[in-house]
Amino acid sequence: MAILVTGGAGYIGSHTTIELLNAGYDVVMADNFYNSSPEVLNRLKIITGREIPFVKCDVCDEQQVENLFASHPEIDAVIHFAAYKAVGESVEKPLDYYQNNIGGALCVLQAMKRHGVKNFVFSSSATVYGEPERIPSDESCAANGATNPYGWTKVMQEQILTDLCKSDPEMNVAILRYFNPIGAHPSGLIGEDPNGVPNNLLPYVAQAAIGKHPSVRVYGTDYPTPDGTGVRDYIHVVDLARGHVAAVKKLAEKCGLVVYNLGTGVGYSVFQVIEAFEKACGKKLERNILPRRAGDIAENYANPTKAREELGWVAQYTIEDMCAHAWNWQSKNPNGYKE
Ligand code: UFG
Repeated sequence: MAILVTGGAGYIGSHTTIELLNAGYDVVMADNFYNSSPEVLNRLKIITGREIPFVKCDVCDEQQVENLFASHPEIDAVIHFAAYKAVGESVEKPLDYYQNNIGGALCVLQAMKRHGVKNFVFSSSATVYGEPERIPSDESCAANGATNPYGWTKVMQEQILTDLCKSDPEMNVAILRYFNPIGAHPSGLIGEDPNGVPNNLLPYVAQAAIGKHPSVRVYGTDYPTPDGTGVRDYIHVVDLARGHVAAVKKLAEKCGLVVYNLGTGVGYSVFQVIEAFEKACGKKLERNILPRRAGDIAENYANPTKAREELGWVAQYTIEDMCAHAWNWQSKNPNGYKE
């Protein structure tokens, strides 16, 4: 019995692979390296001391996905990470996002159906709450409020999975709504390696700290929040990875369709994150105050009660840990996985 991790070389997929192995699961990784590097496989081997089965595969290619399942009959659950994830790019290229994210998921689900695989964990996002009905957001908040095509691909895939579970009572699906994953494996061997100039706060701050940017962009100081900057629920990527292990255990209980927020339940502002990072790297970072970024909301953080009660999962790492581990990764790998 093994778990297929699509997008296994990516930021969250690579950390989840380690936690699955730590928990005693066998893993088959699949990735096409569209937004990741083959170097991740070497790093995972150093961290885990194991050669992890890997298949180079584009999840949108029906034949490749069929071959993957045919050559690994031991797969009995899938954690589906492989997807595009840049909000701004999704606004410019909506068709690419719908095709890749929804097409890829459908291709994997069709192959699972052909091969009788009934367990699926889906990478969703707090972005499905849009401008949240309540803060902290819980799983019963309206989850159809995306504000960009990337977010809509998550809303639509949640709907597809809901319909699939209705049609097939043997399916077990865990939809995991991530808040803002940051940080890196404590070893500093794997971490987030964005292409080009990062869109997200943490990788930008980390790059500013090693001197790639003269200052940190602060998008808006006039939000109705305590210090005027946006507030988010940052979660250590290793905690997030462990949430997937907890979800896989839940599937084994034949749970049908379940939905969980994965967040800490605590919100930090942009200024608070920058301050925590300054402590971690021991440097003062210049702030460049800019207008609000289009599409951003003032605040969102999770109500993580359901995951605690039903999965026995609680995030452990603090914002200081997240920044210290992100800095450890960034300072040891100033150019990410590139030479
Ligand atoms: N921000 C800055 N400067 C930057 C980047 C971001 O001030 O350089 C601010 C944003 O305005 C926001 C906060 O930092 O207030 C966090 O922004 P991110 O871009 O890091 O994250 P978002 O909350 O916008 O989005 C992230 C993921 C999405 C996901 C969403 C879920 O990028 O994929 O969380 O809530 F859908």
